[in-house]
Amino acid sequence: MEQNSIGVFDSGVGGLTVLKSLIKTLKNENFIYFGDVARLPYGTKSEQTIKRYGFQDAKFLIEKNVKLIVVACNTVSSVALDYLKTIFNIPIIGVIEPAAEIAVEKTKKSIGVIGTVATIKSGKYLELIKNYAKNRGKTIEIHQQATSLLVPFIEDGWKESKILKDVIIEYFKIDDFINKIDTLVLGCTHYPVIQDLIEDICQNKVFVLNSADAVSIKVKEILEKLHIESKEKNKKQKIEIYVTDVNDTVYYLTNKILSDVLDDNEIHKKIKLVDIPD
Ligand code: DGL
Repeated sequence: MEQNSIGVFDSGVGGLTVLKSLIKTLKNENFIYFGDVARLPYGTKSEQTIKRYGFQDAKFLIEKNVKLIVVACNTVSSVALDYLKTIFNIPIIGVIEPAAEIAVEKTKKSIGVIGTVATIKSGKYLELIKNYAKNRGKTIEIHQQATSLLVPFIEDGWKESKILKDVIIEYFKIDDFINKIDTLVLGCTHYPVIQDLIEDICQNKVFVLNSADAVSIKVKEILEKLHIESKEKNKKQKIEIYVTDVNDTVYYLTNKILSDVLDDNEIHKKIKLVDIPD
């Protein structure tokens, strides 16, 4: 009998950066990805709306019988994870906790977090980084910066442009942000797409942390702890991708992110358009 899949959702296709790492780490598992492209961005919405959207996204995956959900969206993970856990009766894992834990391990003394307005405003990274630091007896400074303009640039495919570079440099200058930190958390699913550019701007003075790998390791641990990992070895992984809107950006980003793990010819065919009832 085929094992149930792992569900992964995001406000768009940026969360495929998390799916990619999951596919590589959990080779025996099948995955169902849901990207709510039609309603992106979530990061500028109110708490109430983010919770409502998060609920609908999780429900879509639960109706597909997934055994565990990964909330790949930093905004939903910051604002609505606790709420979703009280409603649904399957394991739900967000991206903030694993990233906060690794950031505390890596830093010498000062962590910076960049993300959407909703993520930064929620203070979730602050709270979890402080908790992990306290448990490890480390004294850590935390600096946060909302970087709202980056998602539209990435969505528009302007990832190598000089303007984007200048925008990032301007954000990093605010309150001397970049000079105050030694570790930078990419607190948004889209940012790994421009990780090279960010690293280039940081000139090796700052360790740049992409949380996707941290999340995959956490998911592996939880599957094993709950004895729900797939036992089917050496099989071809089944990957399904559902989105609420399809446009050139969806194809561009999906190809760009998944081309290392999926055959180029398969990627377009996998994207299926769905509607999500309000
Ligand atoms: N997926 C969102 C996040 O990780 C970024 C895009 C959005 O604002 O919806 O925060």
